[in-house]
Amino acid sequence: MAAFDGLTALVTGGASGIGLATARRLLAEGARVAVLDPQAPPVDGMVHVRGDVCDDASVTAATGSALKSLGGLDILVNNAGIGAQGRVDDNPDDEWHRVLDVNVVGLVRVTRAVLPQLRASRHAAVVNVASIAATAGLPGRALYSASKGAVLSLTLAMAADLVADGIRVNAVNPGTVDTPWVTRLLETADDPERERAALSARQPHGRLVTADEVADAICALASPGASSVTGTALAVDGGMAGLRLRVRG
Ligand code: NAI
Repeated sequence: MAAFDGLTALVTGGASGIGLATARRLLAEGARVAVLDPQAPPVDGMVHVRGDVCDDASVTAATGSALKSLGGLDILVNNAGIGAQGRVDDNPDDEWHRVLDVNVVGLVRVTRAVLPQLRASRHAAVVNVASIAATAGLPGRALYSASKGAVLSLTLAMAADLVADGIRVNAVNPGTVDTPWVTRLLETADDPERERAALSARQPHGRLVTADEVADAICALASPGASSVTGTALAVDGGMAGLRLRVRG
């Protein structure tokens, strides 16, 4: 029997990168999967509901449609997110509002829309996609880090509030992951190859994390086998958050 046989899952931002890898993995492990994203996922067998996590009416319509197709919900993966570059004085107010709206309030909108169905599930699990930026100070990422720090704190608060309802809430903190997002970011660098090498060297295992590796961690936290795991954050970062290596030579 596969790990998610008979279960249903909703993945926000599931048309690309980490969300797509997670939706694929859940599908392969037996779940019925819906993807909430403005773009369609390039994979058959998933329900696609077009939606924008910044718009409450859109979230209500999209989650309503997903719940109808799936017939309930056991697993929610809050993955949709956008990036931002800059120090604390670099981003204008409207960009602060935009990024916090997608990365933090978007997660809230989707979660509250599906809470009744999660409460009704015997295997309810929420996994939020935070970031290494929530636990380590990264240069030039003030706004993005603030948004992911909020996701991490919100994960703990949600876990405390929902444990009595039988809903587990955990997070993953990926390092730099080789997704279309990072490809786009590298394209803006003066020397993309050098930038990629610098990002790889920053992670102790010497390379970028793959989207499949993050998907595996998300699925491990979401799986019924993790039924006593709640209020945790799993780093998927090649050791970046926790290790202090000696410089060789
Ligand atoms: P990606 O850009 O490849 O995919 C993001 C997906 O989210 C896209 O399909 C996009 O259409 C969707 N999306 C964006 N705004 C949306 C909205 N308002 N409503 C609904 N869907 C929306 O990005 P990637 O790299 O897969 O990132 C996914 C998550 O992982 C994000 O939350 C990001 O912050 C987080 N993350 C990514 C890391 C990386 O290095 N790629 C590292 C740590 C965390």
